[in-house]
Amino acid sequence: MPIPQPVFDPPFNIVRCSHAVLRVRDLDASRQFYEQTIGLVVEHADRDTLYFRGLEERNHHSLVLKRGPEPVAERLGFQVASEGDLDRAHIYFKERQLPAEFVEVPFQGRTLHAVDSEGNRLELYFQMDQAERILQQYGRYRGCHPQRIDHFNFFTRDVRASMNFYAALGFRLTEYTSSDDSEPRIASAWMHRKGSVHDVAFTSGQGPRLHHFAYWVPSPLNIIHLCDVMATTGFLANMERGPGRHGISNAFFLYVRDPDGHRIELYASDYLTVDPDFAPIRWSISDPRRQTLWGTPAPRSWFEEGSVFPNTPVGPPKFSFAPVAAD
Ligand SMILES: [Fe+2]
Repeated sequence: MPIPQPVFDPPFNIVRCSHAVLRVRDLDASRQFYEQTIGLVVEHADRDTLYFRGLEERNHHSLVLKRGPEPVAERLGFQVASEGDLDRAHIYFKERQLPAEFVEVPFQGRTLHAVDSEGNRLELYFQMDQAERILQQYGRYRGCHPQRIDHFNFFTRDVRASMNFYAALGFRLTEYTSSDDSEPRIASAWMHRKGSVHDVAFTSGQGPRLHHFAYWVPSPLNIIHLCDVMATTGFLANMERGPGRHGISNAFFLYVRDPDGHRIELYASDYLTVDPDFAPIRWSISDPRRQTLWGTPAPRSWFEEGSVFPNTPVGPPKFSFAPVAAD
């Protein structure tokens, strides 16, 4: 089965995934969840918006929550390497008849709002306001000590189309799943810009939707501690899947749902992928260890539920892969 070759001179330079912009119905409930329970830091708050960052992040925000009537994923943010890259990105999207327009966004200035080939809403920017360094202010550590945003995972109708679109932008494939047919179909793909297992992942399903966004935490023990905290502070029902060890990415994980149902993953201990000759790892769709190395299946909600984008119709996947669910 053909897999995309690395593109080392992309048309514009995306550095990494940067931030998620979500709409939530109750900012106070969201603040309680993300600040007091998960442990993110509130960098700025106004009447209708909360800006959070992880403990090692110097950029002003990696999670923006806006008050809204429906809990949707507004946009997923990526940082680029220069203002010129923003201009080249604008041209690139326009040439492909994809939506792209410049707007001014608080704390990150000139920002390109764009939509990818499968309908995911993106925003690209070059420079964000810088915040105080708090990595070594250990007295401020709460929850699972989330350090930095790590990746976005999308439900997409056509994994191959998504994979090819992002490969052309310089995202490199690290791991993927495919069927065992004589003509294998790709079911999911993990791709990176920053040298970890991924900045973006694509899973075949009703799309376009955001499946989850993830924060990197220092160790599995931080995740286990979060389980203890959530189980004893009224958030037991918000723990959707895990803790466990992914086969894919080797990451130790926990998936939780925020008060509006947005899914966040806490994620530790993946590996370095910067080598230019890195060979992507293939997993059979029928191998249960790909999802959880210890074989434990995920709940059905994990395969079916996600955050929609505003004004973006959702459609069925090109290929359906029957999940092995726990119920
Ligand atoms: Fe993930």
